[in-house]
Amino acid sequence: MRRLFEVGELLGDRDVRVVVTCGTGGVGKTSVSAALAVAAAESGRKVVLVTVDPAKRLATALGLEGLGGEPQPVPGITGGSLDALMLDMTATFDDAVRSHAPKNRVDEVLRNPFYKALSTSFSGTQDYMATEKLGQLYEQAQATGRWDLIVVDTPPSRSALDFLDAPARLDRLAEGPVLQLLAPSSGPLKLISAGLSQVTWVISKVIGSKALSDLQVFASAFETVMGGFRRRAAVVRTLLSSPAAAFVIVASPRKAALDEARFFVGQLRDRGTTARGVVVNRVSPAVPLAPEAEESLLLEPEAYAWWRASWVTWRAQRARMVKALPTSLPVTLAQTLEREVTDLDVVRELGSLLVDGAGLAEEDEGPVVDV
Ligand SMILES: Nc1ncnc2c1ncn2[C@@H]1O[C@H](COP(=O)(O)OP(=O)(O)O)[C@@H](O)[C@H]1O
Ligand SMILES: [Mg+2]
Repeated sequence: MRRLFEVGELLGDRDVRVVVTCGTGGVGKTSVSAALAVAAAESGRKVVLVTVDPAKRLATALGLEGLGGEPQPVPGITGGSLDALMLDMTATFDDAVRSHAPKNRVDEVLRNPFYKALSTSFSGTQDYMATEKLGQLYEQAQATGRWDLIVVDTPPSRSALDFLDAPARLDRLAEGPVLQLLAPSSGPLKLISAGLSQVTWVISKVIGSKALSDLQVFASAFETVMGGFRRRAAVVRTLLSSPAAAFVIVASPRKAALDEARFFVGQLRDRGTTARGVVVNRVSPAVPLAPEAEESLLLEPEAYAWWRASWVTWRAQRARMVKALPTSLPVTLAQTLEREVTDLDVVRELGSLLVDGAGLAEEDEGPVVDV
C-alpha cells in the first residue's frame, strides 16, 4: 500500500492557509478544487476558492451563475462558509493600480492608453494576476478574518508552474530592459525629461508627441505600481514556500496525466517544495476480487463480463499509477462518479470521497481468470 494522502487531515490543519491544486488540463482539477473547498467549508472553515479557469462549469456546479472577479458566497454550505471567484485579469490589474498607484494618479493611469494596452496584453498576465489576486485575498484574509483558507485552482500544468515563478519573473521584468527603459528614474525617460536625448526625438517622431507624453505619465506612475506589485509578489512567494501552503497534484489514471504528475513533483522539489499528495481522479471502481465473488459472478455471464472488463481496466490503471508515481508521494483515489460534477451535491460527494480516502494497493489482489 502506498502512503494514503490524508485529505481530511490536510483540510483540518488550521496552519494550512493556502491549498494550491496543480495538474494537467481535463483531469478534473477544477472539480477537485471545488470539492476540497466544499469539504473544508463544511468541516467549519472559512474558505475562499479562486479559479483561474474561465470555464463556466464551476459556477454552475456551485450554483453561482454569474461567478465573477469578486468573492461571492456559495449558497447551501453548512458548517463554515465558502466564497468563490474567478480570476478577472483586467479587474485585478485595475485593483492593483488602485491600491499601489499614488491616489491622485489612479484615474490618469487607468485611462492611459499605454496602461490599457499593457493590461490587456501583458505577457503572462494570467500568472502575474493570479499572484496578485492571491496576494490581495491573503492580505484581506489577514486583515478582516473573513477567510482562514484559500483554495487556488491553477491554470493547466505547465502554466501553473509559471504561476509559481511569477514573483521571480516580475522581479526580472522590473529589473530588465523594458522597464528600465520606461522607468523615469533611470532609463531614457529621465533623459527625455531633461530634453537631452536623441532617443526622445526618435520616439516622438515614431509615436507622436501626445503618445510620448502618455508614455511619460504611464511610466512614472507605473514605476510605483510595479513597486507595489513586487511587494505583494514577495509576500506571495514567502507564503507559497512556507508550511502554510500545501500543493495538491491532480491527475487521472491516463499515462500522460500520470507522467505530468511526476513532472510536477520534480518541479515543486526544484523550488524547495514538497507536494502534499496526489489525487488520482476518475479511476475506475476497484472491483471485488475475492474468489467467492468471482465464482458467483461466473454463474451470470453478463455480470461476469462486466466484472472481467472492470477488473482488466482497474489492473491496467493500477499498474500505470504504481509505475508513474514516486513511492514517496501519498496517493488518494477518486472514482468516476455516476454523474458529471455539475451541482453542489456532486461536488460534495467528490469531497467525501476525497476525505474518506481510498489508497493505492500495490500487491496483486487476485488471480487472473481466463475467460
Ligand atoms: N470524479 C469524477 N467523476 C465524474 N466526472 C468528473 C469527475 N471529475 C471531473 N469530472 C468531469 O470531468 C470534466 C472536467 O472536469 P474539470 O474539473 O473541469 O477538469 P479540469 O479543471 O482539470 O479541466 C467535467 O465535465 C467534470 O464534471
Ligand atoms: Mg479546470
